[in-house]
Amino acid sequence: MKNKNYVWFMAAIAATGGLLFGFDTGVISGALPYMQTDLNITDGEKETITSLALIGAMVGALVSGYISDMIGRKRVILIAAVIFLIGAVLCGAAPDVTNLIIARVFLGVGIGIASFSTPLYIAEISPAKIRGTLVSMFQLLITVGLLGAFLSDSAIADDSNASCWRTMFYVGVIPAIILLVGMLFLPESPSWLLSKGREQEAIKIMEKVEDQETIQKEVARIKGDLNVKSQEMGLVETFKQKWMIYPIMIAAMIMFFQQAVGINTVIYYGPDIFQKAGFGHGEASVMAQVSVGVVNVIFTIVSLFLIDRIGRRKLFFMGMTGMTITLLMIGYCFTQLDTMGESGRYGIVASMLLYIAFFAVSMGPLGWLIITEVFPVKVRGVGSSIGSIANWSFNALIVWTFFKMIGFLTTYFGNNEAYGTAGAFGVFAAVAVIGMLWGYFFLPETKGKKLEDIESHWRNGGNPKDL
Ligand code: BGC
Repeated sequence: MKNKNYVWFMAAIAATGGLLFGFDTGVISGALPYMQTDLNITDGEKETITSLALIGAMVGALVSGYISDMIGRKRVILIAAVIFLIGAVLCGAAPDVTNLIIARVFLGVGIGIASFSTPLYIAEISPAKIRGTLVSMFQLLITVGLLGAFLSDSAIADDSNASCWRTMFYVGVIPAIILLVGMLFLPESPSWLLSKGREQEAIKIMEKVEDQETIQKEVARIKGDLNVKSQEMGLVETFKQKWMIYPIMIAAMIMFFQQAVGINTVIYYGPDIFQKAGFGHGEASVMAQVSVGVVNVIFTIVSLFLIDRIGRRKLFFMGMTGMTITLLMIGYCFTQLDTMGESGRYGIVASMLLYIAFFAVSMGPLGWLIITEVFPVKVRGVGSSIGSIANWSFNALIVWTFFKMIGFLTTYFGNNEAYGTAGAFGVFAAVAVIGMLWGYFFLPETKGKKLEDIESHWRNGGNPKDL
């Protein structure tokens, strides 16, 4: 590698896309308690405001594949940065709930575009040797973005000023400007330039980071990849292949379980849950959310070290077992709040932090990794989209139904909200148990496997478990 600092500079600017992804999905958590007072919104409206951004993200992820092939990676990230910038201002300035919802959908499209194009751009501009590290940094930056949002929400939270949620959104303008200005100085992706036949421009950019010998090899490799890609099967054709059932099912189901264990109820509604547990209004609960963000970052770093060492299956079972136990612990503490008082409340925070740790070390990074590994190269683009779309839609579904589920269970338990909330976490625990059963039969161990070997295993009708 020729110019290490330059490569890290490029990756850092581009990774701001991941940071914004985290920031703009997480910022809602601290804003919701104040919106509730300021705009007089119901739990149902909270679900709509939160989940419609995720539907926007689904649309963003869906279209950005086509657009980034058409106009280039750099321009697409610039568009995302502009959406982040305008979206943050529109959300902060929204005069009423309807406008807020529209602004959130718009911001969501930016999140979806960033979730697809940033890792792609980073992978394409990084020298082969450190590509893996740079791409996994993306997941880490999502969690750093979430923590950034929790910290900024907590600094702004002010119980004497119900409209403080507006400032929380305005803060999103700062990372958006960094991404926008930074990207203006970054080059286009060499792979994309090559795909458009602009070889000289591509080589010029590569000369900044690679030595001549590697450049020749890389150009040949990218051209080879492009050849394969030009024969890429369409979505319909892909579905028609019988042996593709396993990879498609695995990509959709790993994302289903990643979301259906309820992770984002804690990430987006954490302060609301803390309030249900008896923490005073706003400030205290928004502050408690910061600890969720810190644990999330720390254990995502731990996971980066473990994932290639102990393998996917072990990590999956370890994480899911831990999540089942800690979800039951959260539920149990809710049922004991009346008798345990203060200690029950801290029991909920402690179990929630342990739950986040188990998620961050396993399902967080695993979901995004598995979807890049199970598909044959010819359909990896389509396959990754299936995974991303599944991720955003299951995310929206869980987030949209959380308070509804609590409401339903509260009525079921004779109008006892603590039991209703406990019940919801019990449901997530049950999902984690079903997830383990699914994983036992269907989660392949992809650690150290060549992607071609995984493909021929499917073609030969092999079971995921026997990989
Ligand atoms: C998930 C997100 C979640 C985040 C939490 C990601 O892997 O896809 O939905 O908010 O982890 O760190």
